[in-house]
Order: sequence, then C-alpha cells, then structure tokens
Amino acid sequence: MGCSRMKILGFESSCDETGVALVEAAPQGVPRLLGAALHSQVAMHRDYGGVVPELASRDHIRRVLPLTEAALAQAGVALHAVDAVAYTRGPGLAGALLVGAGVACALAAALDVPAVAVHHLEGHLLSPFLSADAPTFPFVALLVSGGHTQLMRVDGVGHYRLLGETIDDAAGEAFDKSAKVLGLGYPGGPALSRLAEQGDPAAFALPRPLLHSGDLDFSFAGLKTAVLTLARKLGPALEARKADLAAATEAAIVDVLVHKSRAALQATGLNRLVVAGGVGANRRLRAQLGEAAARYGWRLHYPEVAWCTDNGAMIALAAAMRWQVGAWSNRDRAWAFDVLPRWPLEAVGLSANRAV
Ligand code: KG4
Ligand code: ZN
Repeated sequence: MGCSRMKILGFESSCDETGVALVEAAPQGVPRLLGAALHSQVAMHRDYGGVVPELASRDHIRRVLPLTEAALAQAGVALHAVDAVAYTRGPGLAGALLVGAGVACALAAALDVPAVAVHHLEGHLLSPFLSADAPTFPFVALLVSGGHTQLMRVDGVGHYRLLGETIDDAAGEAFDKSAKVLGLGYPGGPALSRLAEQGDPAAFALPRPLLHSGDLDFSFAGLKTAVLTLARKLGPALEARKADLAAATEAAIVDVLVHKSRAALQATGLNRLVVAGGVGANRRLRAQLGEAAARYGWRLHYPEVAWCTDNGAMIALAAAMRWQVGAWSNRDRAWAFDVLPRWPLEAVGLSANRAV
C-alpha cells in the first residue's frame, strides 16, 4: 500500500441510483477513473410516480455487492488492492444512505484502510473534473438536481460559498411536477424535455419567478401552480397543446437558470461556470448557456452525460481530490459512521467529515 498513489473505491446510494466506482489518484493532477458500475431504480419507482424510500433502501442492498464486483472487474483491480473506501454521507434518504455507508465502512474495516465520508453535492460539483476538458479553480457552480438548485462560488476543494439557492422547489422538481401535470410519468424531466422539442416555447406566457429579484435565489413552486392552472383551464384541449405547454415550461425554468447564472458570474467577477446535477443534461439549458457563454466570454464546463446524474465515480473522485488537499490521509482509521440526510455543502471544509 503506497502513499504516492491511492486507489479509492466510491459508493453512492443517496437516492434511487446505486453507483460504485474506482478512481486512482496521484498527489497531483486530475484523478483517473479506472472502473464504474451503476444501477438505476427508475423503472422500479415508476409505478409509484416517485421514489419510495423503503424500496430504494432494499434495492441498494440487493445491488451494491454485485456492482462492486463489476466496477473492480472493469478496473482489473483486486479488492485487496483498494487503498481507501468512500461513501456518500448525505444529503439524501437516510435508509438509502445507510446502505452505502454501512457497506463502505465494513469494507474499509475489513481491508484495514480509511473510510472517507463525502458530501453528495461536492461529488456533483467536482464531477466535471472527470471529463477531458477539466475546469480550473475558481469557478461558479450551478448545481441543478432533483433536490437542489444552488449557485456556489468554488475557490478550491473544500472552499464552497453559497451565492443563492431555491426558496422552495428545486429546478428538477419543477420539471418533474410539471411533467406529472402533463401526464408524462416519472422521472418527468427528460420526458418533458423530449416533448418540448415539438412545441412552441412562446405559446404560453408562464411566470419567471424571482427573475428580477436582484439576488441569486430561485423559486419554482409558483411555476408548477401556473402549469397546473393552465392545464385545468385547457381541459380537453390540453391534449393537443401538451407539447406547447411542455416547451413553455422548459423555457421558463431555463430562462431563470441562465439569467441567475449570468448574475452570479457578474457578482463574483468570475468567467467560468460549471454546471452539475441531473438538470445539467437538459438540451435547452445547454444551448442557451452556450449562447450566453459565446456572447459574454465565459468558459463552460459540464460533466460528461454519464456523470450528470447520480453515480459512484463522482464520490470516488471527490474523495480523491480531498485526499490531494490533505482533508484525510491514508493513516486514518475511523470506521464508525453516520449519515446526514440534511447537510449544507457550505459546512464541508477541509477536515475529515467523520461520524462523531
Ligand atoms: O442529480 P440527479 O440525478 O439526482 C438528484 O440528486 O436529484 O437529478 C435528477 C433530476 C430529476 O428531477 C430529473 O427530472 C432531472 O434531474 N433531469 C432533467 C433532465 N435529465 C434529468 N431535467 C430536465 N431535462 C433533462 N434532460
Ligand atoms: Zn444527485
């Protein structure tokens, strides 16, 4: 077990994806992904119209060990060659988080290697470092997922300052809830976005909440209500206007995200934007950010599409980058664990995030 290179096995189980991945890090330079395996529970939860926490936990238990074997096999690395084990400590569903945390800490204890707790959103916002065109610090991060909508100033690993966030629904939630109104099933974001391609975004005037609030906060609850009210008003006529309403909804969400991202870059004086989280896969968002970037001279960074939604690679990567800045060392031996279903990213500094 050398200290010059670390092979880190990462576990993600905060919601409805079980992800396991192996990353190798040298003291400097971007860590390298060696292998990754993922199982999405989307099909299982679809019948219920959303994630059922108890079913999620049980499915993580079923999947986690076979996925671990698959990730290691893909990397061509034996389990005993693993130098540290990382896991998502939060935020997320408590029971789901406990599966990854429990397996990771048990493995770490059995292998006599460090167990490293990782914040889920730190994983998301560092995930663009897995792509060929990796960003450099400092940058503004737009974190847009099913549970979070935040703008952060990132000056380095462990240096996160919240610039603004949603005061109610997350952007992904706005996509999902509007999709439900349109009868598009779960998860609605990708489905709504596909339907929107056939619609006219200007067909309906939907609100852009907090667009000119002067701060960097978001609000999407009112938008969902507006979509619901419009759908009811349309009644039987909705069927023929579905694509238009989907396009108008997507346009409203994307407009706000682009406008606030621009405001965040102006406020910080930075010109680099990292977009992470599931909604970062949205094509309209990418197109409009691309136009703004060309106009205002920003550099844009996205994770590769495979690392946009929840996965183990971003957790192993975050642990590796935290090792590089000394947040933990390969001498650490603390295998007690807890999970933090609610955990602000700003609380994550450079000390080890351990159970107390
Ligand atoms: O980051 P993520 O995979 O999981 C969370 O940590 O929440 O984000 C999932 C969210 C869901 O709300 C989903 O509908 C949304 O990302 N999403 C999209 C697209 N792909 C995923 N929303 C809009 N357009 C997409 N193409
Ligand atoms: Zn996520």
